[in-house]
Amino acid sequence: MSDIALVTGTSSGMGLAAAVALAGRGLTVVATMRDPGRAGALRDAADQAGVAVDVRALDVTDEAGAAACVEGVVRDHGRVDVLVNNAGRGCVGTAEQLDLATVREQLEVNYLGAVTMTKLVLPGMRAAGRGRVVSVTSVGGVVGQPFADAYCGSKFALEGFMQSLAVVAERFGVWVSVVEPAAVASDFVANVQRPSLDADPYATLLAAYVRRTEGAFANAQSTLDAGAVIAACATASEYRFRWQTSPGATAFVGMFLADLDGERVLGATRTWIA
Ligand SMILES: NC(=O)c1ccc[n+]([C@@H]2O[C@H](COP(=O)([O-])OP(=O)(O)OC[C@H]3O[C@@H](n4cnc5c(N)ncnc54)[C@H](OP(=O)(O)O)[C@@H]3O)[C@@H](O)[C@H]2O)c1
Repeated sequence: MSDIALVTGTSSGMGLAAAVALAGRGLTVVATMRDPGRAGALRDAADQAGVAVDVRALDVTDEAGAAACVEGVVRDHGRVDVLVNNAGRGCVGTAEQLDLATVREQLEVNYLGAVTMTKLVLPGMRAAGRGRVVSVTSVGGVVGQPFADAYCGSKFALEGFMQSLAVVAERFGVWVSVVEPAAVASDFVANVQRPSLDADPYATLLAAYVRRTEGAFANAQSTLDAGAVIAACATASEYRFRWQTSPGATAFVGMFLADLDGERVLGATRTWIA
């Protein structure tokens, strides 16, 4: 019997690619998205790969809807063996530019959405004595970056939750991992929330940051490559907590882990707005 994987945020990008890659590895994939009317790209990709996916509606910020979705999957497929918390949204802005509603929305989607889903699948995984929870965080979940205060805050929170859970869940046979992409060529940048720049004292710095980011995204990893790493993490035969999707992401995250006084990261990211 194949494992049952539930993936969030599969209307586009890495979630779409990961859903197809997991189905290609023989898992039964429940591919969730806010609006199943937008499943066309996913269905096309699944058809091209010769695999099937079970598309279902899920907004990760809707707690009752999330519970109903997981209940439906358990009713129809018997259980959830693999959860991929992929749904997420970007946000550009430094502290003063961010209203609290925007910061809360980042936490709701990027952090609490994954927490909600994880809490819903854990009882079944614990009882079964096996399961995988894979959360797509970001290199921005390890390294703070200019004008990413709310986004990195939400992804740091998610890393902290998952890292804390990992050793406890492991005792019950549940492997908890984070996948940390750097720049990936998805709809992510187009969907990013941006501040208004009228008479803004940060406008020059933000323009420098945007230029630097455009450069980074010119060499972005493909969603197919990044999705394949997510699928590899979710099906790995040996446990590892931290995964990056590219050598560039590994180098960037490695900078932080070696940065005991914090200066290495600030030295590098200062040049982004020089
Ligand atoms: N692209 C990058 O450079 C990059 C780098 C590091 C980490 N990441 C992370 O990778 C993950 C996937 O992003 P992506 O690059 O593939 O971007 P993407 O193409 O914009 O995909 C994001 C997905 O999340 C979904 N989503 C947003 N809010 C949601 C909600 N409330 N409930 C359910 N789904 C929701 C979107 O669905 P809708 O169509 O309904 O909006 C979309 O399918 C995100 O967690 C992102 O933070 C991206």
